Parts: sequence; C-alpha cells; structure tokens
Amino acid sequence: MPKRSPSRFPAPRLTPLILSDTTLRDGAQMPGVRFSVDDKVAIAKALADAGVGVIEAGFPAGSEREIEAVRRICAEVPGPRIMVLCRAVAGDIDAAWEALADAAPEGRGVGIFLATSPLHRRHKLGKSKAQCLDMIGRAVAYARKRFLKVTFSCEDGSRTEPAFLRQAYGVAMDAGATGIGFPDTLGVLTPEAVRRRVRMLAALAHPRGVRLRVHFHNDLGLATANTLAAVAAGADIVHLTVGGIGERAGNAALEETVMALILNQKQYRRSIGVDPAKLTGLCRLVSRLSGVPLAANKAVVGANIFATSAGVHQDGLLKHPDTYLPFRPEAVGADGIRLPLSPLSGKAALALRLAELGIELSPDELGRTSRIMKNAGKEAWADEEALLRRAAAAARQASL
Ligand code: KIV
Ligand code: ZN
Repeated sequence: MPKRSPSRFPAPRLTPLILSDTTLRDGAQMPGVRFSVDDKVAIAKALADAGVGVIEAGFPAGSEREIEAVRRICAEVPGPRIMVLCRAVAGDIDAAWEALADAAPEGRGVGIFLATSPLHRRHKLGKSKAQCLDMIGRAVAYARKRFLKVTFSCEDGSRTEPAFLRQAYGVAMDAGATGIGFPDTLGVLTPEAVRRRVRMLAALAHPRGVRLRVHFHNDLGLATANTLAAVAAGADIVHLTVGGIGERAGNAALEETVMALILNQKQYRRSIGVDPAKLTGLCRLVSRLSGVPLAANKAVVGANIFATSAGVHQDGLLKHPDTYLPFRPEAVGADGIRLPLSPLSGKAALALRLAELGIELSPDELGRTSRIMKNAGKEAWADEEALLRRAAAAARQASL
C-alpha cells in the first residue's frame, strides 16, 4: 500500500489568541496579597520570559506606588504590551498617562470599566442608564486622545441586561474603543451561557474591527472552562492570572488555560506563544511573592499532579508514564514523577522505595512487608521510613 504523504495532513492552521495576564492587577486585589514594586517587576519579567503578550500591570489611580510599578515595568520589561485599569473618569485616565507616558505608543494601553448591571447602577453608582452611557462615551473619547489601545469593559457585564450591554458597547465603540471587554465579575456564568454571550458580543465587535476580551471569575469553579468556551465562541483576548489568584475565588488560571489549549490544539486551533515549560516556575514565583500557597491538588502545577499513592496507578506509571499522566513533568517544567507510599500502594512502588533505602527482599518477604504496611494504622504511617524498616525486618524474621 502506498504510504500517505505527510502533506495530506497539514498541521491545523492556528489563529493567534492574545493572553492578557492580570496577576498584577486583579491578582493583586486578592485579600492578603501585597506585592512590592520589586515583586511586580519580577513577576512581569517572568511573564515576559514565558511569552505572555499583554500584562495588565496595575491601577495607577490607586496610588503613587502603583504608578511607580507600572513605570518600572515599562522601563525594565521589554516585549509585552503594558495595560492599566481605569474607572470611567478623566482623573484615572490622567493617572494612566502618568504611568505609561514613557512607553512606546503601540506598547501601552488602558482598560476602562464602568459597572452596567441594574444592581450596580442603582446601589453602587446611583446613575441612570443614560448617565452611564454618557460617562462611557466621554471616558473612552478622552482616553483615545492619548492612547492607541483602549478597551472598554462593562463591569458586572454578565448580570447586565443584554440590550443595555449592546448599547454600552456600542457607545464605547462609537467613541473609539479598540477593544471591548466582557467581565463575569461575580463568576456566575456557565460555559453554555458564555457561548451565547460571546457570540453576541463578537458579532457586535468584529465587523467594526474591534477585539473582544473576556474576563472570568472563579466563584463557581468555572473560570477556566468559561474562558475556553469563550475562545471557542470567538473571543480574541483572554484575561488570566497566574495560579488563578484574584478577587474572592480568583480568576481563570493562566497555566490551566495554556495547557488546555495546547493539549486540545486540534479543537481550539489557537496559537498562544507561551512556553509551557515556564509554567511551574512562574506559578511558584507568584505563589512565593503573593503568599498564596499552591494547593497540592492545584491543576497543572500542584505537587500532586505527577504523584500517586495508589497501587494501580503506581504500577501503570512504572510501566509507562503516559498511562496516568495528562502530560509529562518536563512539559510544564516540573520536577518529576513521585510515588509516595500509602496503605493503598502496591508492591511495585514498595520495592522501589525499599531499593532507595538499600533494603533487598525476596518476593515472599516483599509480599509480607506490603501486607504489614497496608494494615498499619495512621499513627504508624506518620514516620513512613521507620514503619517500612520495621515491616521489612518483621517480614524477614518470618521467613527465617
Ligand atoms: O471582574 C471585573 O469586573 C474586573 C473589571 C474591573 C475588569 O476586574
Ligand atoms: Zn475581575
């Protein structure tokens, strides 16, 4: 049979997806996080090194320190576009200019937000729809006098009436917005609902050459799934944070989104320009500087991702690593596979651990040691090595 030529199966054509990291802005809003200016610069450098294309570096109207951090990032971190967040008021846009004035025009931009949901309009802003639309138009037009890149976001967009959402974005685009942002501020949407909203917003933005950015919070644990649904439905830019840190339950996680897009490239067909091998280092850096620990079961970069204690999984991993790994440790720059022992472990991992301790046993002795280990109580397991040595000695004794 003639061999199929590889050219009959061309690699899928990939459309660029822009990853915009907001660790230094939304991530910095997480209770307990207090990044120093040096921390922010170090994280921005690590993001640039990983290939992240856009960094939302802060909220300049917040403080002089925020302005200083943004200025230093612009000066010391070449590569990514630096964005900052502003409320829809002139003073915030002036502060953004103070922070970004020295950056190259193409390399900087502002994200302006105004809350548009009925709850926020009534209770937080005390403004009518008409007043909100007026603020949006004026703020975007004012920002466009200085910035080439201006994205307007409806805060609490997911709880805003669809008709008013369309109106608000329409006003922003008429005033010159180059991007519109759709935040699910309270993390209430499901992937199905995201698909519908994003299709509607893409149909609004794309014919005008405007980019659509999405921003998902994780209150229902759906932020990454929602981000992927938005990508499939036509979003151009996704807002993410390292380790998923951010307000309340955090934001869609950069490392999760990157790996989901890479592993499912045929489905999503998007190029992202991020080096996955940098992900573990990046997440550990942000965890150290933010003080937010990486849970052992954290997707992609948690300590347990390449570890298993269960006998069946350990046996499979020892026979072929891909049996129980979604990707290899080196793909995300992790340390390697670990097979910690537990009462559920089998003989394969036990033999390996005994060999590490220089203990050689016959197959019978190994079987007896395994039984002793499986039946040992929680207290005995507290000192695993001592338990193992005692069990091996008892097993040997029994075979004398
Ligand atoms: O969650 C949100 O609505 C935000 C906006 C300010 C973009 O972070
Ligand atoms: Zn947010």
